[in-house]
Amino acid sequence: MTAATQRSNDYWTKLEQVDQASVLHPFTQLKDFAEGRQRPRIVTGGRGVFIRDQDGRELLDGFAGLYCVNIGYGRQDVAEAIARQAQELAYYHSYAGTSSEPLIRLSERLVAMAPGKMSKVFYGLSGSDANETQAKLVWYYNNLRGQPAKKKIIARERGYHGCSVISGSMTGLDFYHAHMDLPVSAIKRTGVPHHYWGGKPGESEAAFAQRRAEELDALIQAEGPETVGAFIGEPVLGTGGIIPPPEGYWAAIQQVLRKHDVLLIADEVVTGFGRTGKLFGSLAYGMEPDLITVAKGLTSAYVPLSACLVGERVFEVMAEAAPRIGAFSHGYTYSGHPLGAAAANAVLDIVEQEDLPGNAARVGGYFQERLHALFDDHPIVGEVRGVGLMAALEFVADKGAKQRFDAALKVGARVSAAALQEGLIARAMPHGDILGFSPPLVITRAEVDDLLGRAKRAVDKVAGEL
Ligand SMILES: Cc1ncc(COP(=O)(O)O)c(C=O)c1O
Repeated sequence: MTAATQRSNDYWTKLEQVDQASVLHPFTQLKDFAEGRQRPRIVTGGRGVFIRDQDGRELLDGFAGLYCVNIGYGRQDVAEAIARQAQELAYYHSYAGTSSEPLIRLSERLVAMAPGKMSKVFYGLSGSDANETQAKLVWYYNNLRGQPAKKKIIARERGYHGCSVISGSMTGLDFYHAHMDLPVSAIKRTGVPHHYWGGKPGESEAAFAQRRAEELDALIQAEGPETVGAFIGEPVLGTGGIIPPPEGYWAAIQQVLRKHDVLLIADEVVTGFGRTGKLFGSLAYGMEPDLITVAKGLTSAYVPLSACLVGERVFEVMAEAAPRIGAFSHGYTYSGHPLGAAAANAVLDIVEQEDLPGNAARVGGYFQERLHALFDDHPIVGEVRGVGLMAALEFVADKGAKQRFDAALKVGARVSAAALQEGLIARAMPHGDILGFSPPLVITRAEVDDLLGRAKRAVDKVAGEL
C-alpha cells in the first residue's frame, strides 16, 4: 500500500476543504466549488492507463489526462531521467547562445523527426505559449521581409489553440472568449470542416472539403491577401469535438494558402508523437507546415514543455535580417529547461522503442472498429468518428432528422458522469453533446475492451433516462 492510500478519510476531507478554500481551478464553476457543492477529485497516483483517487478508486483514464500522458502513468525510466538531470544540472537558461546537453540532443531529434522542412526549435512550457510565439514569428517574419501589413491569422470555428490572449483568440469556441474580451481583431475565422453537420444533403466529403477551401479563398480575397500572414489548424480538430478532416481537406486548403503566400501553422499539440497512428498528424494528411506547435505528448506531460518548430522558409528570413536588426528578441526564463528536455528525450525513447504510433494505428484501428460496431446503430448516437487513438461519440435526439438534444438536458455531461460511475474517464467536449476518448497510446486491446464495456453501460444508462 502506498502512503496515499493509508491516510484516513478525515485526512482527505480536510485536504478537500483546503482545496476548495485556496485553489482557483481552471474550467470549474467557482461558487459551487468554493461552497462545497462540487467535491474535488484528488488524484493520488497512476499506473499504465489507470489513475487512483482519494477514495482509493481506480479509474481507467480514457483521456490520458488532457490527451497528454501518451506513455501512460508511472514510467520509472522517465522519472529517473528527470531525477538524474535535476542532480546534474537542474536549470540553466538558453539565452544568448547558452545551452545544455539534453536541449541540444532533443532539438536535433525534433528537427530530424518532424514533417516538412524544419530548421530550428524554440521552447516554451505550454501549448498556449507556443501558439503565442507562433503568432509573433509570423509577424516578425513578415516585418523582416518587408510585408508589414501581412499579419492576420486565420483560425477555424471550433479550433482549439489555447487560452492566452492570442492563442485564446485563435481558439474558435465562444466559451473560451466570453467575458474575457476575446478574440482580438488580428485573428479571423473560417468554417469548421465537420461534414456531419456542415455538409449539404447529398454533398460528398470531398465536395464539402472543396467548399471549405473556397470559403477560405474568398475570406483571404475579402481581407486582402497582403494582410493575411498565416492559417493555423489542428490536423484533427481536438477540443472542438475530435473531428478528423473530410477527404481531401488539407490538400485543398494548402492549395489556397500557397496561392496567397500564407504560412501554415500545424498545431500538433494533441496529434504530435503518435496519436493518429502516424508520428505526426501532418504526416497522416499530407500537410507541409511552415511552423509546427508541439506540447503534451512531447514529454507525455511528465514535466511541462512545448516547442515551436520553425521551418527553413521562416528561419532563413530571420537569419538574413539578423545582422541588420540584432538579436532575436523573444524568449522565456524557462525556454529549453533542462528538466523538460531530459524528460522529452526519455519519452521519445519510449515512443520509438515501443513504436507508440504503430500501437496507436493497430490498437487504435481495433478501437475505432469496436466503437462503430457498438454505437453506429445506437439510438442516441448520431456520429461515431475518430482516427488512431482519438475518437468521439456525438449524441443526437433524432438520428434521421439530425436533430440535437435540447442543451438543457446536458446529455454529453451526463454520459461523462455516468462513465465516471463506471470508473471510466471520458471527456464531455465543450461544444455540443460529445463524448471524447483519447487514452494513453500504450493501451492494449484488452484495456480497449474494458474501456468500451464501461462506455457502453454509461451511454445505455443515459439513453434509458431520456
Ligand atoms: C491543439 C491544442 N493546441 C494548444 C493547446 C493548449 O495547450 P496548453 O493547455 O498546454 O496551453 C491545446 C490544449 O488542449 C490543444 O489541444
